[in-house]
Amino acid sequence: MIRFDGVFKSYDGQVDALEDVTLQVDRGEFVFVVGPSGSGKSTFIKLLLRELTPTKGTLEVNGYKLGDMRRRDIPAFRRTVGVVFQDFRLIPTKTVYDNVAFALQVTGVSSKYIRRRVPYILDLLGLAGKAKKYPMEISGGEQQRVALARALVNNPALIVADEPTGNIDPELSFEVVDLLNEINRCGTTVVMVTHEHSLVAQFHKRVITIDQGRVIADRGGVRL
Ligand SMILES: Nc1ncnc2c1ncn2[C@@H]1O[C@H](COP(=O)(O)OP(=O)(O)OP(=O)(O)O)[C@@H](O)[C@H]1O
Ligand SMILES: [Mg+2]
Repeated sequence: MIRFDGVFKSYDGQVDALEDVTLQVDRGEFVFVVGPSGSGKSTFIKLLLRELTPTKGTLEVNGYKLGDMRRRDIPAFRRTVGVVFQDFRLIPTKTVYDNVAFALQVTGVSSKYIRRRVPYILDLLGLAGKAKKYPMEISGGEQQRVALARALVNNPALIVADEPTGNIDPELSFEVVDLLNEINRCGTTVVMVTHEHSLVAQFHKRVITIDQGRVIADRGGVRL
């Protein structure tokens, strides 16, 4: 599902943000990625999303070889991945419903499907009552759930989240990871970057630790 093989990434030929990363994440796994600030976590995520390409090495995600991927194949690949960011990145001029619907509209599915799918996902995330609100009119935790709804609505094989709980309080952080856990139980692979060790400790998942661009630990992850 995800395979990094001898991956290096340097910015401007200078900073070695990632060095010789080799790892595999199987379909259906839930993985936390932890490490100090500047260790390379976001670089790892951006490589996964093909926002960046490796300086050296190969990587494969959801059956796509990202290194030699043609530009026109990128949209199809991106549709296999749902992304959640720390700062939510909702569209402020669109309602909750339209923020989620928009993610489907761009994939070209029928409006009939959208009218069925969006309420289903909003309901799943406890947002049914917020459909007509704008992002500014709901709480941070609710905004993050909208971001999660948007990431899920395409039914992606993989959810990638870079510090999704960085801007919400601890109880809500737990709730967001709990939701990711539920989603994972239904078969979706989850990769989540966090620096909240208490959160990691509450869920018994595989933990990949990155330090100074290298994977220094990879533990847990026994699946039942
Ligand atoms: N666009 C860029 N240009 C140059 N250097 C960069 C760029 N982005 C990141 N870096 C450097 O690469 C290294 C890894 O950065 P990265 O953003 O991956 O760290 P991180 O683990 O996500 O940190 P944080 O926990 O603070 O988000 C750091 O030394 C950083 O300064
Ligand atoms: Mg980061």
